[in-house]
Amino acid sequence: MSNEWWRTAAIYQVYVRSFADANGDGIGDLPGVRSKLGYLAELGVDAVWLTPFYTSPMADGGYDVADYRDVDPVFGTLSDAEALITEAHDRKLKVIVDIVPNHTSSQHPWFVEALAAEPGSPARDRYLFRDGRDGGPPNDWESIFGGPAWTQVGDGQWYLHLFDPGQPDLNWENPEVRAEFESILRFWLDRGVDGFRIDVAHGMVKADGLPDAACSDQASLLTSRALPYFDQDGVHEIYRAWRKILDSYPGERIGVAEAWVPNAERLARYLRPDELHQAFNFHYVEADWSATAFRQVIDDSLAAVAGVNAPSTWVLSNHDVQRHVTRYGGGEQGMRRARAAALLTMALPGSVYVYQGEELGLEEITDLPEEVLADPMWERSGHTERGRDGCRVPLPWSGSEPPFGFGASSWLPQPQHWANLTAEAQRDDPDSMLALYREALRRRRELPAEGLEWLAAPEDVLALRRGAVTCTVNFSAAPVTIARPGSVELASCPVADLGVDEDTVTLPPESAVWWSGDRDG
Ligand code: GLC
Repeated sequence: MSNEWWRTAAIYQVYVRSFADANGDGIGDLPGVRSKLGYLAELGVDAVWLTPFYTSPMADGGYDVADYRDVDPVFGTLSDAEALITEAHDRKLKVIVDIVPNHTSSQHPWFVEALAAEPGSPARDRYLFRDGRDGGPPNDWESIFGGPAWTQVGDGQWYLHLFDPGQPDLNWENPEVRAEFESILRFWLDRGVDGFRIDVAHGMVKADGLPDAACSDQASLLTSRALPYFDQDGVHEIYRAWRKILDSYPGERIGVAEAWVPNAERLARYLRPDELHQAFNFHYVEADWSATAFRQVIDDSLAAVAGVNAPSTWVLSNHDVQRHVTRYGGGEQGMRRARAAALLTMALPGSVYVYQGEELGLEEITDLPEEVLADPMWERSGHTERGRDGCRVPLPWSGSEPPFGFGASSWLPQPQHWANLTAEAQRDDPDSMLALYREALRRRRELPAEGLEWLAAPEDVLALRRGAVTCTVNFSAAPVTIARPGSVELASCPVADLGVDEDTVTLPPESAVWWSGDRDG
C-alpha cells in the first residue's frame, strides 16, 4: 500500500452497538470490538470505522453526543477505546472514528446551559434558536425523522433540530463552536485515530436567514434536491480548516464526508485537495440492479473525482439503508446479486466500504416486533416508518441458537435461520459469502491503484479491465454467452455453473467473474 493508504483502502464499518458484546448486557461494546480484531484482520480489511461510542442518552443510537471526549458506559471506558486503537494498530488496522458536528445531544452541557439562558444570550447563540412565525415554527423545515424540524421551549423560542428533538443543531457561524470541534479532533488524533467519518458533513452551514425550503417531501436523507440546510457553499471553509489539522499530524490522517448531495460533481467539492480525503458514494447505493445503472454511476463517480485527484468510494450498505441482499430482491436472488455486486465493487478503483454483516450475506430484518424498534424514525413518523433497526440486528458469530455468540443476549432479536450464516458456519466453507469476501479482498490488493478500461459487452453485461484482471458481470436473469476473457480467478457462482469453452463462456444469470491473463492464460 502506498503511503496514501486511504486511496485504495477497504474500510469495515462497525456499528458498535450490534457488533460484539463483551460484558453480557446485550449491547455491543468496545471490548467486544477488540475481541474480534483477529476476525477483521483475517477478513483482510485495512481499516475499521467505529460508529459513535461517546457519552450519549441514545436518542439516535449515539448520534446524539453529550460528551465528545468520553465513552458511554454502555460501550466501555476511555481506556477501552485507547486499548482498542493500540491493538488495532498492532494488527495493522487503521481506526476511523465518527464525529458528529451538525448537532449535539440535548443533554450536552452547552444545550442545558442554552435552555437555562435568555433568548439572545451567548449560550443560545451556540445553537439555532429563533422566534416563531405566526404562532408556529420559524420556517417550514422538516426533520429527517418526520415532523417539524423545530421544537418550542418554555419562553416561546424555538430551536432547530434537523433530526430528533434530542439532537439540537449547532450554529456553525459561532466561533466557539468551530474552536470546540477543532479541539475535539485533536483530542482523538492525539489518541492515535487515523481519521474521522464526518456525520451529516453537508449540513453544518444553513442558508442565510433560514429561508423556507418551500417543498414537500423534504424528510429524507436520500434527497437529491437542493435544500437551504444542506450542501451550502460555506461548509467547505470548515473542511479547509480541518484539513490543516489532519495534515499537522504524522501519518496520513483522513476525513471522510457523509454528504447526501444531488450528484457526483457536488460531492467532489468536498474532496478538493485542501478539503477531505473521501466521501461516501451514496449514488452507488442507490443504483438499480442493471448494467446501465451501474455503468452510469461508476462513470459519473470516477469522472467527478478525477477532477480533484481524489479516490472514489464504493458503498453497498451501511447502518442507515436497507441491507443490499434485501434491496436487490431478497431470498436467493438477493443473495446471488449481492455476491455479484461484491465482486464488481471489489474490482473498482478506489476505496471500498464493507458494512458489518454484509460479508456474511445478512439480509434486512423486516419483521422486528414493534415493541423493540428503537430508531427515533418509528415514533417521529407516527409509526408509519419502521426505521433503520432492520439493518442493525446484532451479528451472528457462532452456535445454533440466538444470540449466536454475540453476547449473553442481543438488544434486537436475531432470526433462527441465521444459524446458517454465522461467521463460524461460513469460515471454512469455500462457497460461503465470507470466503468470497476474504478472497476478493485479498486479490483486490494486487489490482493497480487506478485506472479502469471498459470492454465491449452485450447489453446486460459489464466487462471491465483492471491491469491483468478482467471482471465480467451478467446483470440479466438469463445466461449470456461472451468471448472467454481469460482463466477464472474468482466467481460469484459455482465455477461448475460457468459454461466455459475454448473460446466462449456462458455466464449464469446475475453472476460476476474475475478472469486473469488472456484467454490462453
Ligand atoms: C447520519 C447517521 C445517522 C444519524 C444521522 C443523525 O446520517 O449516519 O445514523 O441518524 O446522521 O446524526
